[in-house]
Amino acid sequence: MNIIETFNLCKYYKNKKALDNLNLEVPEGIIFGYLGPNGAGKTTTIRLLLNLAKPTNGYAIIMGENILKSKKYLSKIGFLPDVPNFYNYFTAKEYLAILAEILGVDKKRVDEVLELVDLKNEKKRIGTFSRGMKQRLGIAQTLLHDPKLLILDEPTSALDPQGRKEILDLIKSLKGSKTIFFSTHILSDVEKICDRVAIIKDGKLLLNEKVEELKKRYAKRMITIEVDNQDILWEKLKDKPWVINIAVHNKSLLLNIKDISMAQKEIPKIISENNLSLIHFEFLEPTIEDIFFEVIS
Ligand SMILES: Nc1ncnc2c1ncn2[C@@H]1O[C@H](COP(=O)(O)OP(=O)(O)OP(=O)(O)O)[C@@H](O)[C@H]1O
Ligand SMILES: [Mg+2]
Repeated sequence: MNIIETFNLCKYYKNKKALDNLNLEVPEGIIFGYLGPNGAGKTTTIRLLLNLAKPTNGYAIIMGENILKSKKYLSKIGFLPDVPNFYNYFTAKEYLAILAEILGVDKKRVDEVLELVDLKNEKKRIGTFSRGMKQRLGIAQTLLHDPKLLILDEPTSALDPQGRKEILDLIKSLKGSKTIFFSTHILSDVEKICDRVAIIKDGKLLLNEKVEELKKRYAKRMITIEVDNQDILWEKLKDKPWVINIAVHNKSLLLNIKDISMAQKEIPKIISENNLSLIHFEFLEPTIEDIFFEVIS
């Protein structure tokens, strides 16, 4: 079952198409990475899903409800904005206790969520927290009312590698009991923890697929070759129609291939005709980064 499904969702600002006919499916129980460069339309999508802005056109069904017709679904969502704000004077526990009161949530839940994000014994004021700690507190806050769906807008972007790892581990630990939709422009985040990824650019969805299948589909399209004279090989390969591009990496050539069977037939021929010695030949598993740049270019 899809926890989120959008139908030709659009948001136009004057002449700007911030979001253009978005059709997105997010299955329940997964970690969904919403990937796109700056200005792609990630936050706009999230604002529409959360009823913080009205679509110019189209609609979405979230947990069975049409977002244009009902707002009940919002109580089952936990949301972390891209730049969360806290009351710096409080401790994490004091802050969440106030929110629990406002939300009508049992106070016991405060300790539970602080435990989940590893801030249970933290006595310092929020103002002294590192960015990573603040992000963890933000996630604790989204969990207070035990929502089914978490929507996190770029939860890792302002963090150093250690802080990012903590947040990614935390998101991963929540998988299963929650569906997590998070936006990011950091490719490796998606690769590390997502089951599914959508890539968006200029308001348009370019791809929405399981990470595993995506990698399979793009597999065997990257080849690394090392020969005794790479300049000759480069010269012979550079204008072949089945080669998308060639990069030099250490002593090897890194080839992005359009037609794998042509490459398999022709490369050995070129090596032999030019009297080159083959040192290494390998099909490479593509990274999300390779795929991302190919898809958005
Ligand atoms: N209120 C607004 N008025 C006019 N244009 C807007 C508004 N909000 C967003 N936009 C434009 O819509 C486009 C998408 O913006 P959005 O904030 O959704 O991108 P994003 O993918 O979240 O980018 P970032 O990675 O920078 O957060 C951008 O070109 C932005 O300038
Ligand atoms: Mg944004």
